[in-house]
Amino acid sequence: MSKFLIHGGNKLFGELNITAAKNSYLPILAACVLCEDEIILHNYPNYTDAQSMCEILLTLGASIKQSAGDISVDAASLFSWRIESDLACQVRSSIFMLGALLGRFKKARVAYPGGCEIGARPIDIHLSGFKKLGVKVEERHGYIFCNAEKMHSGTVLLEFPSVGATESLMMASVLLPGETRLLNAAKEPEIVDLQNFLVKMGAKIRGAGSGEIVIEGVKKLHGCEFTPIADRIIAGTYMIATAMCGGEVLLKGVNAEHLRALIDKLDKTACVISAKNDKIKVTSDGKPNALGKIETSVYPGFPTDLQAQILALSSISKGSSMIVENVFECRFKHVPELIKMGADIYIKDRVAFVRGVEKLYGASVSGMELRGTASLILAGLVAEGYTTVLNAKHVDRGYKNIEKDLASLGADIKRIDD
Ligand code: EPZ
Repeated sequence: MSKFLIHGGNKLFGELNITAAKNSYLPILAACVLCEDEIILHNYPNYTDAQSMCEILLTLGASIKQSAGDISVDAASLFSWRIESDLACQVRSSIFMLGALLGRFKKARVAYPGGCEIGARPIDIHLSGFKKLGVKVEERHGYIFCNAEKMHSGTVLLEFPSVGATESLMMASVLLPGETRLLNAAKEPEIVDLQNFLVKMGAKIRGAGSGEIVIEGVKKLHGCEFTPIADRIIAGTYMIATAMCGGEVLLKGVNAEHLRALIDKLDKTACVISAKNDKIKVTSDGKPNALGKIETSVYPGFPTDLQAQILALSSISKGSSMIVENVFECRFKHVPELIKMGADIYIKDRVAFVRGVEKLYGASVSGMELRGTASLILAGLVAEGYTTVLNAKHVDRGYKNIEKDLASLGADIKRIDD
């Protein structure tokens, strides 16, 4: 069980290239099963969640090769449409396979997905969308059985713009004769990235990012090469780290437009940000002012995946903040750990009331899920003395060597493998 040992107090200086987006790579890996040609994906980030998706593809019969930052997936020899619980429970994105397998085989048997424990993580919107398109869905013994022999095109109105449900339905419809429309679809940049990937495979799909996606089914898809977008959440995490520690950091390869909500909150309050094309420079004196009220919401609102990190920033900001978590019902597991470090935070339902303190104090704290663990690392970077962050495996799900990135900027952080 590895952990991080951090000695707080260093400012951050330097520049980083941001790796490819986890939440783009995962649905794109699922979508590879939709064609029988080789697909080459660049900048493969090898997060553990991506490794889990590759393991699922291999058990289905795909072949995978990695070389020099690329990954090639060949699903020609796919023979199975079943995903057992030991694999499915490792990642939320296993549920994306449902849509992809229906597109390929017109049937699927998938165990309930796993993923960070930040709420119940239901899949009712996925399944009601499939039923609307004529898929026969049965749930029993912890598995979802789908028969799409009678699946037809049509219009699906998502009751909530679920990212995963949008992606699943996109993948299930690209080989479906006729026109399928997804209304109230998620607008995240990763949805646009998936559309761009599917179009490169020969799909006829438009509207991603607008809330209404129109898919014209085609007979067959073909192989392609593709480079997924950079990870806006990793970039946002490092922007917040710089605002907390002080210093000057240049992040490269990330689309600043994808972080408009964070930039609007941070700029001239917690730091100074200059963003142009695919570069974001953050300059900070390490004395952030309080950000006031922050409400997480669907894109382009403030991302829930940056809530834990902005809460760590708020805990050392001058003044009080209120952070409302509107997307997931149990996403404050990092708060008791921050309080152990001296943070002054009160939680009531989905609201965190934060009073900024002079300083945090190093402690031994436990990571419970991906972004919460990242927030504890950020707190350790500014805390007085030493902080140990346990359960490093959580952060490895979505950051490739976070300690190397931060150390390259001057942080005193190392990983200790027990
Ligand atoms: C994706 O999860 C991301 N994961 C999450 O990132 C991200 O936080 C989330 O989208 C929101 O942006 C991946 O892409 C692998 P949702 P997903 O379906 O698809 C409810 C990270 O840290 N809901 O948009 O699971 C759900 O309970 C992870 O990188 C239903 O009620 O998110 C939640 O309250 C964490 N029924 C809300 O919608 C459903 O069928 C948003 O969920 C589906 C979702």
